[in-house]
Amino acid sequence: MPSGWLGRLVLWNMNSRHSKVTDWGLAHLSIEKQYTILDVGCGGGRTLTKLAAAATEGKVYGIDFSEGSVAVSKKINARLIAAGRVEVRHGSVSQLPFSDGMFDLVTAVETHFWWPNLPTDMREVFRVLRPGGKLAIIAETYKGANTTSARLLEKYSPRVGMAHLDIAEHRALFVNAGYSEVEIMKEPNKGWICGVGRKLMTSNADITPSKQASL
Ligand SMILES: C[S@@+](CC[C@H](N)C(=O)[O-])C[C@H]1O[C@@H](n2cnc3c(N)ncnc32)[C@H](O)[C@@H]1O
Repeated sequence: MPSGWLGRLVLWNMNSRHSKVTDWGLAHLSIEKQYTILDVGCGGGRTLTKLAAAATEGKVYGIDFSEGSVAVSKKINARLIAAGRVEVRHGSVSQLPFSDGMFDLVTAVETHFWWPNLPTDMREVFRVLRPGGKLAIIAETYKGANTTSARLLEKYSPRVGMAHLDIAEHRALFVNAGYSEVEIMKEPNKGWICGVGRKLMTSNADITPSKQASL
């Protein structure tokens, strides 16, 4: 992410470009007013504002790897932060500075393709979800979509270190990390994808190998 005024411009632009796909993705979720929510890779912070508007009696946390994103997210949500309804932290999805089982919902908009280690990062998100909680991954491109950007990314994503996954690979990502009730929604002509998985009340992933052996 560029720093200074250019970085802020990029983040403002991202907020408006990603707004429609974010609204579409969030519409697949039922967000209760007392929810505690984490938005990973919060970027310019607009998703935090949207989530706080739904979780009116809860709290929304944002985390981002880029100091510039953290600064803009804080600025955009200054009033909600002052009211104690939003908190933004600097850090990586690979090592979330939150305790186990803290969140009812984790969202990730236009960010998962940049995560350093998708399989283990999905597990790290799983750790901070409460039993019954959900992860929603929302993005405006996936491999196999009927769009120019999806076709271009098929060629260029390996060069820029971007994980450009198809529908089946998204599903496997959730399942292999221990998520259940996995649903992958898509809009092929727009390239939009929304993957949702739940951490079951008692999931296999919560059961240690020694416990599994005794079952
Ligand atoms: C394309 S932007 C999307 C921002 C925002 N979610 C939106 O929809 O506008 C991707 C964001 O993911 C963040 N990001 C990339 N890798 C990350 C990681 N390992 N942990 C946390 N955030 C990360 C970037 O810093 C950037 O702000």
